[in-house]
Amino acid sequence: MSNFELQQFRSRLLSTVDILDVVKERVEIRRSGTRWTGRCPFHNEKTASFGVTPSMQRFKCFGCGAGGNAIDFVMQYDDMTFWEACKTLAERYGVPLPPRSSDNDPKTRTRAGIFEAHELAQKMFRANLGGSSGGPAREYLKRRGVTPALAEEFGLGLSDRGGTTLTKRLQQEGYNADQLVESGLVGRRDDGSFYDRFRGRLMFPIQNEQAKIIGYGGRALNDEDQPKYLNSPETELYRKSYALYNLHRARKPIREQSLGILVEGYMDVIGLASGGVGEAVASCGTSLVDTQVRMIHRYTDNIVVNFDSDNAGVNAAERSIRILLQEGMHIRVLELPGDVDPDEFIQQQGADAYRALLRTAPRYFHWLRDRMRKRHDMRSAEGRAEAVRELLPSIRSLPDKYERAAVAVELAHDLSIDKTLLLEQVKGAPVGSPTSAPKAPSRAPRPELPAAERLLLENLLESAEARMVALPRLAELLERPDAERLPSYPIAAQLVDLGTEFSYEALEQRLSDRDKALLSTLVFADETRKHSGTGEEQSAAQAMQCVDRMEQELDRRAVDELKVRIKAAEEFGRMEDVLRMSEELQRLMRKDPRRRARPAE
Ligand code: UTP
Ligand code: MN
Repeated sequence: MSNFELQQFRSRLLSTVDILDVVKERVEIRRSGTRWTGRCPFHNEKTASFGVTPSMQRFKCFGCGAGGNAIDFVMQYDDMTFWEACKTLAERYGVPLPPRSSDNDPKTRTRAGIFEAHELAQKMFRANLGGSSGGPAREYLKRRGVTPALAEEFGLGLSDRGGTTLTKRLQQEGYNADQLVESGLVGRRDDGSFYDRFRGRLMFPIQNEQAKIIGYGGRALNDEDQPKYLNSPETELYRKSYALYNLHRARKPIREQSLGILVEGYMDVIGLASGGVGEAVASCGTSLVDTQVRMIHRYTDNIVVNFDSDNAGVNAAERSIRILLQEGMHIRVLELPGDVDPDEFIQQQGADAYRALLRTAPRYFHWLRDRMRKRHDMRSAEGRAEAVRELLPSIRSLPDKYERAAVAVELAHDLSIDKTLLLEQVKGAPVGSPTSAPKAPSRAPRPELPAAERLLLENLLESAEARMVALPRLAELLERPDAERLPSYPIAAQLVDLGTEFSYEALEQRLSDRDKALLSTLVFADETRKHSGTGEEQSAAQAMQCVDRMEQELDRRAVDELKVRIKAAEEFGRMEDVLRMSEELQRLMRKDPRRRARPAE
């Protein structure tokens, strides 16, 4: 199809689709003036940097820089190619797709081929399980308490023992050698011959959030067959760091219960579901990574980690906790009594007993501390030092420095060690993993300013309208005693002071070398935005929003600090201070960030 036709289709699609609907179906956002805002689904954050502007039909995150139109949003959110996103939207909104439009896009074609191969495989696996050769597998499921209805719900199947049945079938369908291997369902031997990757295994389909099968976990039915579980390799479709077993079913209960449960295995997920506990997900044969956590984080902040109580399970739990912490999740840990896994527990004790334990599972921190108490001799100084050393990485990976401090104080108390020393150790920046950067592509190198401050300065530098509208409000904000902690304070203060006298040179002259350097990175950093032709009016609106966000951020930090100080005052029995600060805390928390009306220009 010609470029012209493509452009025509694209604009027809974009003018029919409402980005607000598209985003609202996936992300919790609320109206805030002319925008709708919420927590960004593309990076880890507590505040709402993410927003949709319906009048412009665009989304934008001030935190990680992700942004674009409805098609871009679906591509990023659902991990789709351009044409897959178009198809999704076109089907949903009844826009006719140009005939064979995606044929020219190799990646979409490859992925479509893999989808189809999995649909075909799924039909065969299910027929096998229900058919004459499926007796032992059905027996096995029965023994493990999986009813036929449950097996049906989870799409369980059985791969053929023969070793080439699926391969042959795919070849009949026209899959060539490369396509066979690309699908992940077929392996190629050194001599060039092909074989079914999964043979005589109980098949657990792994689905994406659109419920499409993208890979399999295959469990051996006999103890001789190794490994116990064989998983699909990575393919163009199946990226392990973006796959979570059962998420497409669990996300609704997770949102409803405001709680997710992380378990180790496929059978745990199914066992819990059999007892009506639908909010469990599992990583598929790999250890948990940040991208997977972000997918859960879209639906809840709260997670209970419920792994096996054996050594491997406990170590995996500790690893997972660290990743979950980095992504800002609230974590509790459920350790089941009697060395059973969640599946066995539900079979033996029932779902009510499980739910009861779920409700009382300790916060991760107490769990970790108790493990340290068991592992080390708390009566000796060495033992306590050892415990602290092992706990430190988890505390340091807490993204919020005030929470870090509060946890350190609590730990120091519990292990009777010196508070100041411990606080010293956790003071620095959190130890981020190299993979914890936002998913959205980072463009030019960023100056060291929070997104809202950077964007505010960019708008103020560029637009007279933005200066006229936003400088008075910025001036008001800068009067706060804590405004000086804003990294942009020196530049912002000079901008306010210059007012209508503004010129770039005049501003520069008034700044220190450090702030001059900062200013020049600002001017040269963000190529993309410069070329997007931001209008004056939009610059002004954006600038106002940035000031709002800076105020919210200052408030948030004030709240956090107050909480820590109240706790400390309580510890010392300074009740008058506690009362005074609690009142101040109440006042700050009552303050509604959205109460300010946008100025009518
Ligand atoms: P488990 O061995 O605890 O499996 O491994 P399970 O789900 O409890 O299985 P059953 O109850 O023995 O049938 C937990 C998870 O680790 C992965 C699988 O994803 C499994 O569900 N795993 C395990 C593998 O990828 N390969 C293996 O060989 C074993
Ligand atoms: Mn297990």
